[in-house]
Amino acid sequence: MNPFRRPLIAGNWKMNAGGQEACVLANEVAAKTRRFDRVDVVLAPPFTAIAAVAHEVEETRGSIDVDEGFGVGVAAQNMHHLQSGAFTGEISTPMLRDAGATWVILGHSERRQHFYETDHGVALKTKAALDAEIRPIVCIGETLAEREAGETLQVIERQLRAFMAAFEPSPGFGVIAYEPVWAIGTGKVAKPEDAQEVHARIRELLAEVSEEVAEATRILYGGSVKADNAAGLLEQLDIDGALVGGASLDAEGFVKIVEAAQQVADKLAEEEGGPPSGQRNAGELDADTGADERDTGDATSSEEGAPPSSADGVPASDGAVGIEPDDDDAVDDRENT
Ligand code: 13P
Repeated sequence: MNPFRRPLIAGNWKMNAGGQEACVLANEVAAKTRRFDRVDVVLAPPFTAIAAVAHEVEETRGSIDVDEGFGVGVAAQNMHHLQSGAFTGEISTPMLRDAGATWVILGHSERRQHFYETDHGVALKTKAALDAEIRPIVCIGETLAEREAGETLQVIERQLRAFMAAFEPSPGFGVIAYEPVWAIGTGKVAKPEDAQEVHARIRELLAEVSEEVAEATRILYGGSVKADNAAGLLEQLDIDGALVGGASLDAEGFVKIVEAAQQVADKLAEEEGGPPSGQRNAGELDADTGADERDTGDATSSEEGAPPSSADGVPASDGAVGIEPDDDDAVDDRENT
């Protein structure tokens, strides 16, 4: 972690806790993470529980925490890139916003693997999410075969370039999650220094867009993160948080991961003079409301170099978009499944 990027711990509940148990879990997490004021927390329940979880989180944390600069955000785990239409079984961005989600996980490896999502489909969804002011958490990561073939960095680069080419990235446009497929649900967590190497490469690629984008973008690690291995990962310079699967279904274990992030953030702030407790990352949308703080005239944001947004909410171009589309990205009809 770095003292100038607020850590984010997100819980991806996958196809679990879609009913009443979602409220119990959300309530416990929201209540017990309240004191960790240096950490953003996002919960991603199944679609059926988004509205209930959003309500629960609001009831538990109230608007006062948002005013103080922190809160618990609610994410969807997927979405369609169009706003409406004859797409049986799909969910659009207006529906997500109505339900209370202001975040969305996109391009998770389970969706790429089991539902044939392509780099191009992920790019379309990322653009649609940003257009709807829903913050994307875009997942990238290599398979075991790709890692063993020494292709990790090429795969990461291909996936990153594909979705970044779909829009003009501005500082704080969203979050990237590096999730090596071989580490997901296997208990085989990446070594902190190996994960750091990939995160550093992702940040280097982001710097092709602009230094501001590279510095403001949070890059999460995901894959078998647990209470007992979180600190080692979070201590790495370019690991800004975690996307947690299995361990996020247990409130106590998940809260311990948030606590680990708070402890690393506290230490960094003390050592390196980071922002005071509770202050937000420069150029970031608000975790709960999706409101763009760059438009509020917030002095910290402008001091830290976030470029202004235009009136329609589209970030002004910094004229330095260096990431080009991948030529091989043909639209795959199956992406709408
Ligand atoms: P696990 O934490 O269960 O390995 O899952 C990681 C993940 O896929 C989060 O999106």
